[in-house]
Amino acid sequence: MARQLDGHDPQQLQQAVDALCAGRLVAFPTETVYGLGANAGDDAAVRGIFAAKGRPADHPLIVHLPNMESSYALAAAVPPAAQKLMSAFWPGPLTVIVPRREGVATAAAGGLQTIGLRCPAHPVAHALLDACAQRGLLGLAGPSANLFGRVSPTTAAHVVGEFGDEVLVLDGGACQVGIESTIIDCSREHPVLLRPGMITRAEIEAVLEETLLDRDEHAPRAPGTLEAHYAPRATVRLMSADILQTALQVLGTGAPKLALYSRTVRAPRGMPHRRMPDDAAQAAQELFAALREFDALGVELIWVESPPPAPEWDGVRDRLARAAAS
Ligand code: TXA
Ligand code: MG
Repeated sequence: MARQLDGHDPQQLQQAVDALCAGRLVAFPTETVYGLGANAGDDAAVRGIFAAKGRPADHPLIVHLPNMESSYALAAAVPPAAQKLMSAFWPGPLTVIVPRREGVATAAAGGLQTIGLRCPAHPVAHALLDACAQRGLLGLAGPSANLFGRVSPTTAAHVVGEFGDEVLVLDGGACQVGIESTIIDCSREHPVLLRPGMITRAEIEAVLEETLLDRDEHAPRAPGTLEAHYAPRATVRLMSADILQTALQVLGTGAPKLALYSRTVRAPRGMPHRRMPDDAAQAAQELFAALREFDALGVELIWVESPPPAPEWDGVRDRLARAAAS
């Protein structure tokens, strides 16, 4: 069987569904990043995800659903905050953590009493999830389709680059959002922002009509919230435009294997560089592809201009800070 399938071709989509029903892994597109999918109700298949990624078995996965109603099969309860968020932002780049129904999707939840649920907006993901639901699947467990700790893939080619022939990839084009979903823990008394994304804190608070708490030491484990995560091979350093400018002057053009990723600072002649877009949504869409491109050039160091402090940059700032912490 071909390792890459066209998600817009109904027959090839059906092949992906068949593979998932047979307990195999299929990488699939979402609007955020590509996910590495398995039948969430099949613990053995889900263990295959952990093995392929090299991810510790107690780090929970998100389960992808075709609609809000399907969350009741996985959730022991859907608290009011989660209901509000699902109604406002699904389908879309938002994950809610809710109490898990006992005995369901245990491997996907990494043994936790809670489960992360998300209904993606990508049309191919949607068609895939609908078809899987028709075959009786509860949903697709799906972390980002990259090796543990690495940059999430935003194209089918990125996924192939991570896993080679090991994994079937459903191609749905380049992801439009580009960074992973915003995650809100609704399983505790007050909702907590576990991972910032392109749906901003202010948008969420407006829907909830309450203030989001920040992650604290009681928050459940989330590797996407580990300090060092989302890292390219090259070392990332974040600097203000001023410091970046000065550092480049001190260095001259003599720095080997250094690349520049900046909005306002110009690269010296001959230095690999990419311009970071001025628009946060566009910057997010390109971010992971840019980091992968630098890796492909073989650079050892990427100097990045710190994104603006505005809230719409929270997701990009978070991912860059984590890349720089590695
Ligand atoms: O946009 C996304 O969310 C993408 C696409 C594929 O949907 N998925 C994704 O999955 O980023 P992953 O596994 O790479 O990151 C999900 C994060 C992890 O940090 C995980 O620990 C956290 O969600 N998570 C999942 N279930 C959880 C739970 N029950 N409690 C706390 N955190 C959870
Ligand atoms: Mg991930």
